[in-house]
Parts: sequence; structure tokens; C-alpha cells
Amino acid sequence: MKAAYYESNGNLEVIKYSEDFPKPEIKENEVLVKVKASSINMIDTVMRNGYPGLQISFPHIPGGDIAGEVVEVGSGVSNFKTGDRIVSFPIVLSDIENPKFVDNPQLNFGWKFFGMHLPGGYAEYVAIPESSLYNIPDNVSYEKASTLPTAGLTAIHAIDTIANLQKGDTFLVWGGSGGLGTYAIQLAKQRGAIVITTTSTEEKAQKLKDLGADYVYMRDDEQIVEKIKANFPGGLDAVLDYVGPTTFDKSFSLLRNDGRIMFCGMITGREVTLNIQQTYFRHLNINGLFLGNPKNMQDLINLLAEEKIDPIIDTTYDISQAKEAQKHFESGDYIGKIVLTF
Ligand SMILES: NC(=O)c1ccc[n+]([C@@H]2O[C@H](COP(=O)([O-])OP(=O)(O)OC[C@H]3O[C@@H](n4cnc5c(N)ncnc54)[C@H](OP(=O)(O)O)[C@@H]3O)[C@@H](O)[C@H]2O)c1
Repeated sequence: MKAAYYESNGNLEVIKYSEDFPKPEIKENEVLVKVKASSINMIDTVMRNGYPGLQISFPHIPGGDIAGEVVEVGSGVSNFKTGDRIVSFPIVLSDIENPKFVDNPQLNFGWKFFGMHLPGGYAEYVAIPESSLYNIPDNVSYEKASTLPTAGLTAIHAIDTIANLQKGDTFLVWGGSGGLGTYAIQLAKQRGAIVITTTSTEEKAQKLKDLGADYVYMRDDEQIVEKIKANFPGGLDAVLDYVGPTTFDKSFSLLRNDGRIMFCGMITGREVTLNIQQTYFRHLNINGLFLGNPKNMQDLINLLAEEKIDPIIDTTYDISQAKEAQKHFESGDYIGKIVLTF
């Protein structure tokens, strides 16, 4: 089968492409999916460089996002059949079922992420347990569906489940132009929030305004905190920060009393210094989050089917051009998602 993969960690040059990669075999609870589209996420390049503390086996096929057609079903599969158009949940949930996590089963230890612990979507075929499958509505393309599992799911988890944004709430997402950012802007607008974001170029800023952002600031503006505070003197209700140490102090100072900061990434590093006294005097809420729960996934699919959100696809590449696609991704010169097709 066609696959893009690597046999060691490293820079773009480790990415190889083959049309003779062994096709996976399915277990009785799995289906074989012929992949039609897989979108690129930052985790793909982080994994390629070597995810800190994680041992993987080589050759490794990246890709947490999988949209395609069911072409074979295991004997124990009851809800899916050949020909079904599906998108996969990005992880296979653990068999462990702690009742505390009944609404958020992804919090049980032992989950496995496609493209991390399991072969991912940069391949023509993937074996996927029935429990991780979702039908794609007829009016949603494979390309758009492939942007849902990692970026879209994490954004809706933050906005609906963690922040529970309501009409009129003020919400800041640092870095609005990427996969997660463009979803966060649209989802927060969908909930009626006032959306504030940042970016790196005037061209991107205009596109983010077109997407619905109410306020867009240049991320390198040294007066950014003062400018946001001038518009929102009472402070912000919620901030989604996946940038890390370079934005943490700004996020912290921008929150209102009882406001909420959400972390889901670490582009500029892993550690920050927290002022405990300010945290309790200002009654701040701090949440970490990763991906989302099955309800988030279905809600997201429904929003797409109802055309209430529209994933932004910047460029599509054939799977044979996975290296060029990741190079484009690493340049940062895009809005939304870069998608691989087959
Ligand atoms: N926890 C989870 O489950 C989860 C799931 C998905 C993604 N993530 C994380 O979320 C982050 C975004 O992922 P993605 O796939 O959406 O990546 P992406 O498409 O590359 O988007 C990254 C965004 O960050 C902005 N940015 C980069 N450096 C910045 C800085 N120093 N200050 C402010 N903004 C900066 C970018 O540029 P511009 O400023 O040019 O607009 C862009 O908008 C990554 O850290 C990823 O690991 C986490």
C-alpha cells in the first residue's frame, strides 16, 4: 500500500514514501479503512523530531487524523459495513473504565493515539476498532472530515466542555491562524463569544477577521497586553494558551477574577512560574486538556453537517508529497489545515 513513514527520528529528510508498504490485517473488532484524507497537526512534526520520553517502533507511520471508506469488516463488527464513509476518533480508548471518567473516557490510562502509539493516517489503509468510528455526513468531504479529529476535537473540548463559553463571553486564543486556532475562532463565535486572537502577519490578520475574529493583534506587539486591557478593562473570561512560557504571563494578567486559562500545547516550552497568591486572590481557574470526548466528536460532526462551522483547508498534497506537506506546515505560511489525500 501507499504510505509515508520514517525509520528514525529527525528532520524532514527522514520522511520516506513507498507504494509497497505492508497492508494491515484487521482483528475481529476492527474495520479496514481505505484512507481518503489525513490532515497534518503539530504533533506529527513533534513525533518526527522525537516525542520526549516516548519510545516508538520503526518504521513509524504518522497521522492522528483519518477519514476514509470502510473496505473490510471484522467478524465482530456490527454497526459499520463496507462502503461506509467514516472519520476516526484520534485515539483508541482504553479498556479501563473508571466511573469518574464516564463523560471523559479519554482520561482513562492506556489510550492509544493514531500516529503515536498506533500506525497513523499517512497510509492508504488503517485498521481501526469499530468503537473509534464515526459516520461522515453526506455533505461533508473527506478532506474536511480529516481536519476534525485532532484540531477540531481539542478546540470544541476547550470551548464547550472546559470553558462552557456563553453568549457575550470574552475569549482569547493565542495563534488563531493554525489548525486548532481556526477551529477555536469559529466554535467560539458559534457560541456567541467575543473572540480575540493573535497572529504574525497583516495578511493572516485579515483572514482571521474574515473568519469571525472580533479583535486580532500582532503577536509580537510589545503593547499587546495594554491594548487588550484597554478594550477589556474588566479582564477576559477565558484564554486558550498552547504557546507556553512566552505567552503565559500575558494570559495570566489578562484574565478577569474567576477567569479561566486553558493549556493544550507547549510551542515555546514546558514550564512557567505561577504566582500562587495572585491565583487564589483572583480566584483563577487553570485547566489542562488534550483532545476531547466522544460527545465532543459527535457535536463537532453535527456542526459541520449543519454548516455552522467550515474547516479551513489551505492546501492539499498527494500522500507521495508528505515531505513537502510537512515542510509547508513547518514554514507556518498557511491558514487552517494542510491535508494529505490519496
Ligand atoms: N493537547 C492536545 O490534545 C492538542 C491537540 C491539538 C493541538 N495541540 C497543540 O496545539 C498547538 C497548535 O497545534 P496546530 O496543529 O493547530 O498547529 P499549527 O497549525 O502550526 O498552529 C500553530 C499556531 O501557533 C501560532 N504560533 C506559533 N508560535 C507562536 C508564538 N511564539 N506566539 C504566538 N503564536 C504562535 C502560529 O502562528 P501565527 O502567529 O503565525 O498565526 C499558528 O497560528 C500545538 O502546540 C499542538 O501541539 C494540542
